[in-house]
Amino acid sequence: MVIVAVAGGTGAVGRNIVEALISQGKHEVIILSRTADAAKEEEIGARLVATDYKGVAALTKILEDNNVHTVISTLFMSPNGAGLLEQNLIRAADASKTTKRFVPSEFGFPQRDEDGDLFPSIPMKHASRRALETSSLEWTIVYNGYFMDYFGMPRISSYLAPYVVLLDIPGNAAAIPGDGNKPVTFTHTSDVGRFVAASLDFEKWTPVSFIIGDKMTMNEAVKLAEKAKGIEFKVDYDDLVKLKRGEVTELPSQNSRYSICPKEFVQATNSAFGIWIDRGDLDFDENMSLNRKLPEIKPIKLKEFLQKAWTN
Ligand SMILES: NC(=O)c1ccc[n+]([C@@H]2O[C@H](COP(=O)([O-])OP(=O)(O)OC[C@H]3O[C@@H](n4cnc5c(N)ncnc54)[C@H](OP(=O)(O)O)[C@@H]3O)[C@@H](O)[C@H]2O)c1
Repeated sequence: MVIVAVAGGTGAVGRNIVEALISQGKHEVIILSRTADAAKEEEIGARLVATDYKGVAALTKILEDNNVHTVISTLFMSPNGAGLLEQNLIRAADASKTTKRFVPSEFGFPQRDEDGDLFPSIPMKHASRRALETSSLEWTIVYNGYFMDYFGMPRISSYLAPYVVLLDIPGNAAAIPGDGNKPVTFTHTSDVGRFVAASLDFEKWTPVSFIIGDKMTMNEAVKLAEKAKGIEFKVDYDDLVKLKRGEVTELPSQNSRYSICPKEFVQATNSAFGIWIDRGDLDFDENMSLNRKLPEIKPIKLKEFLQKAWTN
């Protein structure tokens, strides 16, 4: 048994990891949060430790005082989120006498340095990796592809905030990057929790841990969504030239959400996703996956997930 601190464990990915650790019952889990909120602590069922990420010495003291062995960061990694603050947590974990292992807040897919202009969190995630590489910590970066949860909303709730990209199932439409024949990894957030919790038992971590909930082409995913709903979708294909201009086909359900997610953000973000999918960046190698090491974990498949959400 070790003590695991999940930084940002009140958030979407973090909650799933905390819940998996609690249900696994092998380790003690605490949550690092900017505010120690008793009601939230009660709701989640794990102790919240008030944490200010700005000072390395104070962070080190928190880790040592709580005897933290493993830090799993699920911080919101954007310039207006925790961004570069995660590096302070890495330095603190490195300095902490009790802390040996660190998982940074990645939970997507490998991204290249030159894509930094496409997505604001990329330079920050790369800076965290560099900080880990120069530390004495054991670390692993978890890649899970695109979260399947988005395709069940609003029928199946998730800790993730709703976001419409690729498949607009309520709107019976799809905006497919390229020819739609590149395999894409989709994983449900709850499976990320289960795989991450189980991987704590590994004697050694590899620098990268791939999780594959399911993998298929976007054309196949559209077919599954159409079948689940029993209706044909309007399918548009966006070629690389259009995606590189920062444009994607607008999906019907995006329109009503522009007050929360402005059109410029949606176009820029979804065109970047399109470029990565078309490049094959979400086509993970099964041989390198945690699935191979943990065959007892049977992840949720997109087909059953879509049927549960959309078949009446
Ligand atoms: N592959 C995918 O499809 C996908 C989708 C979504 C996210 N992700 C990735 O998953 C990771 C976690 O994302 P998430 O959606 O779970 O994040 P989130 O729920 O938005 O935020 C996680 C936690 O970060 C803390 N936080 C937020 N702003 C902060 C700030 N300014 N300073 C310090 N802490 C702050 C908050 O905890 P407290 O309020 O308790 O301090 C929050 O609960 C990110 O790296 C993200 O890129 C991947």
